[in-house]
Amino acid sequence: MKETILVLGSSGQIGLELVGALRSSYGDNRVLASDIKKSEKETGWYQNIDVLDTHSLAQTIQQYQITQVYLLAALLSATAEQKPKLGWKLNMEGLFNILDLAKEKNLRVFWPSSIAAFGPTTPREQTPQVTIMEPTSVYGISKLAGERWCEYYFHRYGVDVRSIRYPGLISFKSPPGGGTTDYAIHIFHQALLNGRYASFLSRDTLLPMMYMPDAIRGTIELMEAPADKIKVRSSYNFAAFSFTPQMLADEIIKHIPNFKITYNPDFRQALADSWPQSIDDSAARLQWGWEPHYSLADMTSEMIQGVSQELKKSTSHT
Ligand code: SER
Repeated sequence: MKETILVLGSSGQIGLELVGALRSSYGDNRVLASDIKKSEKETGWYQNIDVLDTHSLAQTIQQYQITQVYLLAALLSATAEQKPKLGWKLNMEGLFNILDLAKEKNLRVFWPSSIAAFGPTTPREQTPQVTIMEPTSVYGISKLAGERWCEYYFHRYGVDVRSIRYPGLISFKSPPGGGTTDYAIHIFHQALLNGRYASFLSRDTLLPMMYMPDAIRGTIELMEAPADKIKVRSSYNFAAFSFTPQMLADEIIKHIPNFKITYNPDFRQALADSWPQSIDDSAARLQWGWEPHYSLADMTSEMIQGVSQELKKSTSHT
């Protein structure tokens, strides 16, 4: 069957790169990008869609005979702490809308969970797939609840929903959107622009991270895996490497020797302190063959090049 794919939240940090990758393998006219408001980075087949607008979601899915949906529209951890009710509403109602449509129209769904679904009582090192989960952030609470609903819709209604607990994602093509791990992207921009960066997380905050090309490849691999390989219908642990702000700064210094980092933790420190330091992703590896390709060093050199090019583009436009 030919797939027609809808990506909700296509202008976001993951969406922009995911749409490009999906179009390369499925074809430009098989991937409909959508967001609440069109960004200047959008190219190709696009439609404005609000995930809270059930009617236009249903209409679009019917009109284009959509077979797969990637639901990426969400408020991330730091923004959701500022707007708790909106964070809950967008993250949960958006998911319900899609799960209900998936049940009716037999859609395959991708929905992202996060390391934020864990909490301070979770074992922090090599966090297992199944463990204590008592998230303390609005974002984490919505992710844990969403995971339970995904599994429920799979068991109760047979909805083919698949999910990954993303670590912090590092990329240069699209700006990050209000997460606690965003420091690991800002640092590259500031290192290249000013040679210094004041980190909002402390020197030794160890968090699981991943370079975006790995994350995109893993996401598509999960969605393309035969259904009988997907034994976890809540959300898969998914990992590449972990680092602290200091470890990342040390890596950047290999490229920019005069780079200086200072530390000025804010409210995001408490969020980071409640999350795992490293993740056991053996279920994803064994069940559908997940394997990361990028190390911290590979990611850092590509980020330095990529961010330099983006900065050149933006100065040549001004
Ligand atoms: N990167 C996300 C955040 O910081 C975690 O999923 O909010």
